[in-house]
Amino acid sequence: MSNKLLTIVVVLSCFMMSCSTNQSEDKDWIADENIDMSDELLLSDESPLTEMPEYSKLRGGESDLIERSFENAPPLIPHKIAGLLPIRVNDNKCLTCHIPHNSTKFGATAMPLTHFTSYRPFLTEEEGLVKVDAEDNMVVETDLEHFNLAMFNCSQCHVAQANVTAEIPNMFDPAFRQASERQQSNLKKVMKEGVK
Ligand code: HEC
Ligand code: HEC
Repeated sequence: MSNKLLTIVVVLSCFMMSCSTNQSEDKDWIADENIDMSDELLLSDESPLTEMPEYSKLRGGESDLIERSFENAPPLIPHKIAGLLPIRVNDNKCLTCHIPHNSTKFGATAMPLTHFTSYRPFLTEEEGLVKVDAEDNMVVETDLEHFNLAMFNCSQCHVAQANVTAEIPNMFDPAFRQASERQQSNLKKVMKEGVK
């Protein structure tokens, strides 16, 4: 290789190296394995679970309610859900027992008023522009007088619990303003707290 050609190769490779170093220094993204708060690598197979989770085998009507995780948290499902999921358009078994007019018969907690209310503001259209018919920070509440289908997918918010032995300390301390909120919700009543 001639001296001139060698110089060009050296200069070029230095330039390329500096480009790649700059790229990693400038990056403002977080690598996948550093996203979670656990000390374990997110994508590693090392699970903190020491055994297979065991879900409840008790049917609705046989289980004991679980204290709410925090004020107006969606209550956890204390009974088994095997055979109840997946929820389908024409097959939602959760509704059968939890719809208020049936709940007493099954001894189930009735769905709360929030599940019969729409909190979505009306949309209006003017010259092709869709506008929200509500001021900023305003809670729009419409009593539907029927079940709000936006709440149809119960398991999106309510989750079954399993018995696990995991060495993960839970430092969260829920502060309930009223003792009754440990067992029941009052979200419909307090929805407008702190907003117009
Ligand atoms: C056969 C009737 C029945 C069906 C079906 C049923 N549940 Fe239940 N559910 C109950 C009863 C009864 C309770 C009260 C605890 C008990 O007695 O086991 C309960 C409790 C709950 C609770 C706890 C309520 C609280 O106040 O803490 C939630 C949440 C819940 N069920 C959600 C669901 C979801 C979601 C489904 C569908 C995947 C479902 N349930 C299907 C009867 C049923
Ligand atoms: C988008 C989330 C979401 C969906 C979907 C949803 N819930 Fe809830 N649910 C909540 C929250 C949050 C609460 C507690 C606050 C409140 O009263 O709304 C709650 C409360 C409840 C309660 C306890 C009522 C009380 O008086 O304490 C029951 C029972 C319940 N839901 C059943 C259901 C069933 C059955 C479905 C499906 C048909 C369902 N929920 C769908 C979020 C949801």
